[in-house]
Amino acid sequence: MTTTATPGPAAAPARVGETVVEARGLTAGYAGTPAIHGIDLEVRAGEVVALLGANGAGKTTTLLALAGEVAPLAGTITFHGDSRRRRLHQRARQGLGFLTEERCVFMQLTGWQNLKLGRGRPEHALELFPELEEHLGKPVGLMSGGQQQMLALGRVLASEPRVLLADELSLGLAPMVVERLLTAVRAAADKGVAVILVEQHVRQALGIADRVHVLRRGRIVMSGAADDLRSPDGHGAETIAAHYLTGDADPS
Ligand SMILES: Nc1ncnc2c1ncn2[C@@H]1O[C@H](COP(=O)(O)OP(=O)(O)O)[C@@H](O)[C@H]1O
Ligand SMILES: [Mg+2]
Repeated sequence: MTTTATPGPAAAPARVGETVVEARGLTAGYAGTPAIHGIDLEVRAGEVVALLGANGAGKTTTLLALAGEVAPLAGTITFHGDSRRRRLHQRARQGLGFLTEERCVFMQLTGWQNLKLGRGRPEHALELFPELEEHLGKPVGLMSGGQQQMLALGRVLASEPRVLLADELSLGLAPMVVERLLTAVRAAADKGVAVILVEQHVRQALGIADRVHVLRRGRIVMSGAADDLRSPDGHGAETIAAHYLTGDADPS
């Protein structure tokens, strides 16, 4: 029997409601110094979990540890039933899609070349973001920030990940683009992707999240269902922001 490497989904999708990623007592950091402490969280297929917190709270470190880019100092990470330590490229084969804080595109390549480098079908990315089509012939460095981020998100979603980790997807982008990106993230979750979304925009994050964790100084200080936090008077987002996200950067 022969096997051929074909592009397409990295891994079979999980069943909706099934836990896809779980962290227990996760402590991780840099040069042996923890930046996050004893984090417990999980994300199931079909849900969006938002991670909120001030600058320096440990959001990126949490995602990097889940992705296998930062080694845990303590605790466990279980990825679709596998609790062995894995590096990012191995996680990618297990169905991890990771959009880091740096925009995940190759600026010198054209949009089309960027899409072809992904694990999925370029056409699938264009179904999600058809407005990109007319710009695909030019170098990505000449596209707007919003187009670049749609390209990055479209490419990762086209690979049909089981899990999407998205770090500050909407940073610095216009509200309409933010809406567009987050709607695509919600739609992916509705199709069964497990999503962990790091966001600065609390209101928009609450708008698409199922559950929320707030990090402060490397620890989860508040967790809840997004429904409970979206107060009827619409002040839920302001309350979280006022209590947890205000002030200067959050030194560990
Ligand atoms: N590469 C690094 N080396 C050393 N310390 C780091 C590094 N990256 C982040 N940190 C520190 O870890 C803490 C958490 O940072 P980070 O996870 O980036 O927070 P956030 O994403 O919430 O802004 C901060 O105190 C930050 O200074
Ligand atoms: Mg960060």
